[in-house]
Amino acid sequence: MNFAIKTVDAFEILDSRGNPTLRVVMKLDSGHCGVASVPSGASTGRHEALELRDGDAARYGGKGVLNAISNVRTAIRERLEGSDAAPQQMVDSALIALDGTENKSKLGANAILGVSMAAARAAASAIGIPLYQYLGGASSYRLPVPMMNIINGGRHAENSLDFQEFMIVPHGAPTFAEALRYGAETFHALRALLHKAGQSTAVGDEGGFAPNLGSSDEACELIVAAIRETGLRPGDDVALALDPAASSFASDGRYVFDKSGGRVVSREDLLALYDRMADTYPIVSIEDGFAEDDWEGFRAQTAALGDRIQIVGDDLYVTNPRFIRRGIQERATNAVLIKLNQIGTVTETIQAIKMCRDAGWQYVISHRSGETEDTFISDFAVAMGGGQIKAGSLSRSERLAKYNRLVEIERELGPSAVYTSPFPKFGKTTPHSGADAAVSA
Ligand code: PGA
Ligand code: ZN
Repeated sequence: MNFAIKTVDAFEILDSRGNPTLRVVMKLDSGHCGVASVPSGASTGRHEALELRDGDAARYGGKGVLNAISNVRTAIRERLEGSDAAPQQMVDSALIALDGTENKSKLGANAILGVSMAAARAAASAIGIPLYQYLGGASSYRLPVPMMNIINGGRHAENSLDFQEFMIVPHGAPTFAEALRYGAETFHALRALLHKAGQSTAVGDEGGFAPNLGSSDEACELIVAAIRETGLRPGDDVALALDPAASSFASDGRYVFDKSGGRVVSREDLLALYDRMADTYPIVSIEDGFAEDDWEGFRAQTAALGDRIQIVGDDLYVTNPRFIRRGIQERATNAVLIKLNQIGTVTETIQAIKMCRDAGWQYVISHRSGETEDTFISDFAVAMGGGQIKAGSLSRSERLAKYNRLVEIERELGPSAVYTSPFPKFGKTTPHSGADAAVSA
């Protein structure tokens, strides 16, 4: 197989917030080609790999990425031309060595990740197999259960909600395509309920509604009502998940509900709130319930709730094996949110996932709030087999592109496709299809 890289190029495109990002094109001598676009977060963790922006106020308010593009076209192109697009580890270790910094600040994690993803696509194309199969091999047949963010708050919306994400998890569906229907019908029922209540049905950055509700409780109640409205069972068919993204409302060891009136609560109060919410609503997962430096908060939460629900670290770990290792040692959570651009290469992301698997932890492959039409994470989620993806709401095509790609993959896999709940304590757990249906989390 000829994987020799002929050339690598990049250009500036816009993401779903209208901000510049990179699209990378890698061409092989064989004529095969890989294209990838890089996402961008808003509630970013402090320790994420560096997203290189120009800082030139005359262009895009300083958010241009021409320097990152220039790094692809010069240093990275020079290093990679003539070498191979596979195996992936070789491409990524060349990029890491060329950058030479801890946080990819020399070339930019956005430049590096774009090239890393484009290389995977080019290699898959050269072999003539789908990306999920290239990255995951023969065991790529488990479709992920989606976490769909249908009410947006925090830094993703201009409204009164302090918590960033109120998600639905259609884990009781028989197939991914049916899960998508459960999600969309709930989304539409929620729109009708909000409209009836005189609330706005405008959407936030991830395509979820952004109403001015009085509290997090009200958001959960509305979602449960919307699930019922569709004839589905809250909990059994469609459960709830939260991402408070608590780093965004943490201040000096306390938590300040600024958007909803300024109430200040302690770590203990916040834990008590989660405890009560997990008792009241069919919540299966809480992500970033505490700030990224509040390890004690996470440890207490996992000790108190970890046997009932999934506790996910996002900003806490930034997909970095260094922090995940600490989390495992300290039992800080029992799951990790996985974002390719937090760490910056496909290979390091896979290493982070391996660490989760070895610890018996769950992992959720995730988009960013600033996205493009690229569907890399859909293939990646199937390849990694963890059975969970977080890709936004049921509106805005940069979100639906991910779900639609999963529908396509499910069709392609045919009877070998498996859709099973990673939350066996909640409702249905019976595998629904496929010879290998015994595989579950
Ligand atoms: P971000 O938010 O992409 O804006 O960081 C997503 C998340 O916190 O999970
Ligand atoms: Zn998060």
